Amino acid sequence: MKMKWTLILLLGMLPETTLGWRYHYSNKAMNWTMARQWCRSNYTDMVVIQSQEENDYLVSQLPMRTSSPYYWIGITKKKKNDPWTWIGNNSTWIGEKSWAQGEPNNQHIGEFCVEIYVREGKDKGKWNDEECAKKKFPVCYEAQCNATSCERGRCQETPNNTTCHCDPGFEGDRCQTGEK
Ligand SMILES: *[C@@H]1O[C@H](CO)[C@@H](O)[C@H](O)[C@H]1NC(C)=O
Ligand SMILES: *[C@@H]1O[C@H](CO)[C@@H](O)[C@H](O)[C@H]1NC(C)=O
Ligand SMILES: *[C@@H]1O[C@H](CO)[C@@H](O)[C@H](O)[C@H]1NC(C)=O
Ligand SMILES: *[C@@H]1O[C@H](CO)[C@@H](O)[C@H](O)[C@H]1NC(C)=O
Repeated sequence: MKMKWTLILLLGMLPETTLGWRYHYSNKAMNWTMARQWCRSNYTDMVVIQSQEENDYLVSQLPMRTSSPYYWIGITKKKKNDPWTWIGNNSTWIGEKSWAQGEPNNQHIGEFCVEIYVREGKDKGKWNDEECAKKKFPVCYEAQCNATSCERGRCQETPNNTTCHCDPGFEGDRCQTGEK
């Protein structure tokens, strides 16, 4: 835990050296479906958040806004009684402090998408359910693992690191040493 915080602190000061996910956004607002498509065609996919630390790190990497629209994130549901589900691996992670006060309010029919408030004040980094047809800015992640990241192993990434898990008999930071 301590290690992780140190990394986050370091990354906060040195965003240039990030080894893990990179975040990207568009200055053009679009509905959720188009936003996800924009992410998939230009980067890896719409952003996925799996902890409060990741949430806060993401917010620190985006330009603060002073009014709506804010940014779409990759959590959605198909119908009212479904659980909120992240794109990608169907995770249903939601932190105790994720939603803004009074949210999700499902006020309109079909508030099945989620925006993140990237603004100063008490709602900074909090989520709000919104109609998917509304236009907001896409925020995407770009995976850093690629076919050559680990020679003989599986590449795993988090927002602040990539790690090679080597096949038996191989070692090294890229699993490059061992019998060939
Ligand atoms: C992003 O993808 C869209 C297609 O969804 C394309 O029109 C656009 O030019 C791409 N933008 C960049 C910066 O590559
Ligand atoms: C997520 O859930 C959907 C619907 O239940 C399923 O079709 C899909 O394969 C799942 N995806 C993953 C990565 O588990
Ligand atoms: C989904 O992916 C995230 C990010 O890679 C990971 O932290 C999380 O544990 C995964 N959740 C499930 C249910 O597989
Ligand atoms: C999103 O925008 C596209 C292109 O403008 C449109 O075809 C589509 O129907 C819209 N989807 C929603 C859910 O509003």
